[in-house]
Amino acid sequence: MTDKGSPLLRRFGPAALITGASDGIGRAFAGALAAQGFDLVLVARREAVLQGLARDLASRHGIAVEVIASDLSAHGSVADILTRTADRPIGLLVASAGFGSVGPFLDLDPGSEANMVDVNCRSVVELIHGLATSMVAAGRGGVVLFSSVVGFSGAPFSATYAATKGFIQSFAEGLGVELRPRGISVLSVAPGPVGTGFAARAGMQMGRAERPDTVARVALAALERGGTVRPGLLAKLLGWSLGMIPRRARVRVLGQIMSGMMPKTKG
Ligand SMILES: NC(=O)c1ccc[n+]([C@@H]2O[C@H](COP(=O)([O-])OP(=O)(O)OC[C@H]3O[C@@H](n4cnc5c(N)ncnc54)[C@H](OP(=O)(O)O)[C@@H]3O)[C@@H](O)[C@H]2O)c1
Repeated sequence: MTDKGSPLLRRFGPAALITGASDGIGRAFAGALAAQGFDLVLVARREAVLQGLARDLASRHGIAVEVIASDLSAHGSVADILTRTADRPIGLLVASAGFGSVGPFLDLDPGSEANMVDVNCRSVVELIHGLATSMVAAGRGGVVLFSSVVGFSGAPFSATYAATKGFIQSFAEGLGVELRPRGISVLSVAPGPVGTGFAARAGMQMGRAERPDTVARVALAALERGGTVRPGLLAKLLGWSLGMIPRRARVRVLGQIMSGMMPKTKG
């Protein structure tokens, strides 16, 4: 372990792999980790965007940045990423790539809903299995996963997305206890609305939202502790108020919230 750099870099460095680094929360993590001196592997589909970010972060922070353009919905994509990063000392995985949808389930494109399961769930399982093996061998490491306020029960009109986030929440909780004695911290981040490109991509209308750099800052501060973090007041309030009501009622309330987020033409 290097004795230089911030406590975060010593504990989880020297390199971090971030999926979904081209935008939103993943991009905010890239900036925050680069400022701490992490070397980075940036993964998303838009190669030109990633290359621009890599140049900027490398020149501003003097770090090494590798870009891997990859569609995580494609089977075999994670195996390719693992092969290309096999000789990299990756101590931190930030699995931010993901997308959602809103609308009556039967009106949504089934191919896109199935791709969502691949990106939001399958690729995360494969990445952690590949990277945590070498973290365990090193006796230290960290994994940041993205659940959501909708990851704690079903959500009508965003049923697939909420189910993918429920999967991640449960996966993070189980894995966190399993890997803690082996030196790995697993953190589930459960944001409320965050002001990124997410809502537009999901076809959602979003009101008040948290800033993505707040999400990254709060998550990195909670990483050593692990468990679940709700970044920002909005996520805490939503999590607290939804948690107060029985699960069946919560599902109905989430249905009202999600139908309010549908574009007017769908509602
Ligand atoms: N924003 C919110 O309100 C919110 C709330 C709760 C939880 N979350 C979760 O937080 C995470 C980050 O969301 P965000 O708000 O940062 O969303 P975002 O701004 O839309 O960014 C999503 C990122 O995922 C990448 N991505 C999407 N599909 C991909 C694919 N098939 N292969 C590879 N990369 C892919 C995108 O890059 P390319 O397009 O370049 O591939 C982009 O970098 C997601 O898991 C989301 O579910 C977000």
